[in-house]
Amino acid sequence: MEILRITGGRPLRGTLRVQGSKNAVLPILAATAAIPGPVTLTNCPPIRDAAVTCALLEGLGLKASARGSRLEIDGAGPVGSAPDPALAGRLRSSFLLLGALLARNGAAEMPLPGGCVLGARPLDLHLAGLERLGVRVCCEGGRILCRGRPTGGTVLLRCPSVGATENLILAALGASGSVRILGAAREPEIADLADFLNRCGASVRGAGSPCVTVTPAPLHGASHRVLPDRMEAATWLCAAAATGGELRLLELRPEQLRPVSEALRRAGCGIEEGETSLRLRAGPLRAPGLLRTGPYPAFPTDAQAPVMAALLRAEGCTRFEETVFEARFRHVPALRALGAEIETAGRLARVRGVKRLHGARIAATDLRGAAAMVIAALSAEGETTITQAWHLDRGYGRFIRRLRSLGAEAEEDG
Ligand code: UD1
Repeated sequence: MEILRITGGRPLRGTLRVQGSKNAVLPILAATAAIPGPVTLTNCPPIRDAAVTCALLEGLGLKASARGSRLEIDGAGPVGSAPDPALAGRLRSSFLLLGALLARNGAAEMPLPGGCVLGARPLDLHLAGLERLGVRVCCEGGRILCRGRPTGGTVLLRCPSVGATENLILAALGASGSVRILGAAREPEIADLADFLNRCGASVRGAGSPCVTVTPAPLHGASHRVLPDRMEAATWLCAAAATGGELRLLELRPEQLRPVSEALRRAGCGIEEGETSLRLRAGPLRAPGLLRTGPYPAFPTDAQAPVMAALLRAEGCTRFEETVFEARFRHVPALRALGAEIETAGRLARVRGVKRLHGARIAATDLRGAAAMVIAALSAEGETTITQAWHLDRGYGRFIRRLRSLGAEAEEDG
């Protein structure tokens, strides 16, 4: 999708089943490179990043086939150690193949990953952790070459990086002894990766807590249902809140969404949680105070842009502090072009609610920033044209169809 046109002003109403999680399925797909047998994944989201990851796996010699939301991956045969640089450069999570390939082959030649530009996205924690486990790491010709199976040992992460935690868990699958990761990230997607690996015979304990232990065990194929996507759910809730709508979400884990649903509740929305469902009724919006992003279970950095977009017309001032990434306000100029009043200073942003927004031509900057622009456009008067809308395809499956099913006026061009 290149260009998305949205005519704003219609409240979003209806019911949606939440898709499988992008940030869970991508590490799980990378992990299949370490599994010497057939894997079946269900509830996979139909997103471009998953398709690119399957192409990367096929380039390494695995077999991949998709039927609807079901993916079959077979890593029974030999697996290469050098992922395709052009494909790897299209997403950040390609770097998780490093851990999987070290576990499988004791070697990996990693191209640099891509993904959303959110300021510097260093890899030092991934690499220092592997070196601590005896892996030899060197950079050569724009690639990172890693050799040697990890030994057992303890790695302490200076900050809870999701990707570094996942890469170390994956590398530890092929280690010669138990690996303990201290200071691990606690995101639910890490626990989902561990669930998948444990179904494949691994022994990963403590995932979802700051101390994860991986004990080597023989691996085999298995089936796994991917966790629901808390960020897709957050996006739809924000769209309903921004437009004065009413939305029921099904097949999600409401507790994993609580920092976002609590913020929307404080902003004046009615929220009712079921065991696997959530209903939002938008009310007149007011600023919910300071929203500070942080590692799980704090307010998620991926929800910062969508929630900001939902609050552009809320009465009062909402302040955001972005503590995870250094440049995650790239959506702000586009929101200003729609009439929003936002000031930024470093990692702080202040939104002063305005009475109305108006349509404009704007360009998407990154995945969640693009979602924020859609949310703002839905609550603006007139037509908004969003160029570079392909960012959305990376993480939202059948986006326009789902938007329209809730009553939005949206169409794509090209
Ligand atoms: C993952 C998510 C992304 C989310 C992010 C934070 C996936 C596919 N992506 O990204 O959607 O926004 O978590 O919740 O799951 N850092 C270092 N050195 C490192 C690695 C990270 O300093 O080696 C820093 C980063 O610059 C950042 C912080 O750690 O400030 C968190 O990054 P990290 O958790 O690694 O994010 P990703 O795994 O890239």
